[in-house]
Amino acid sequence: MDQQSILEAVRTYVYQEFSGEGTGHDFFHLERVVKTALRLARQEDADLFMTELAAWLHDVGDHKLNNGVDRSEEQITAILSKLKTPDEMIRKVIEIVSQVSFSKGKKAESLEAKIVQDADRLDAIGAIGLARVFAFGGSKNREIYNPKQPDQTTIQHFYDKLLKLKDLMNTATAQQIALERHVYLESFLERFYKEWNSEA
Ligand code: ADP
Ligand code: NI
Repeated sequence: MDQQSILEAVRTYVYQEFSGEGTGHDFFHLERVVKTALRLARQEDADLFMTELAAWLHDVGDHKLNNGVDRSEEQITAILSKLKTPDEMIRKVIEIVSQVSFSKGKKAESLEAKIVQDADRLDAIGAIGLARVFAFGGSKNREIYNPKQPDQTTIQHFYDKLLKLKDLMNTATAQQIALERHVYLESFLERFYKEWNSEA
């Protein structure tokens, strides 16, 4: 199959698999990550095909969507083999995807992994990130906030992860985009506490 047909088939696959997903990892998350990743890839002169393919597939088989079991390598291999994708390309995509996730704790080595990781992280901050964090927290039955026991709340996730992301961007382009989204999160928190204390 030619590259364009592989991308189209993969898009159709993830559309079927991720549509209606309720924790913020739905098809439109993938679509935004693809768009942002391609924007970064153009700026950074990365391989557009590998970037797009990995972006579409970056949450396939992910442990957080699979009851804690990581099946990404197995599922990506199954999808791409069916499309007669060359083995070398499949190996590369699996490597990129394995380096993208924050929770897997690996370092992004290739430029394409850095870019897809940045695009995924950008989708976790700003207005979209704000919407997603509460969708995810709710799906795990977490409280929005609890001043007596803040540890397990969704607001705590801002401090554990979201507010750190702007300094973890790999590419200069993503750093720039992250800054505005970061400021937006900070102003949300400020307003949140004000309303919480009935000061606004
Ligand atoms: P990855 O490990 O692939 O980087 P995460 O598992 O951190 O991704 O999930 C990314 C999305 O899920 C983000 O939008 C993030 O805010 C949300 N998320 C992850 N963990 C939590 C949590 N403990 N509470 C609320 N939202 C979370
Ligand atoms: Ni993602």
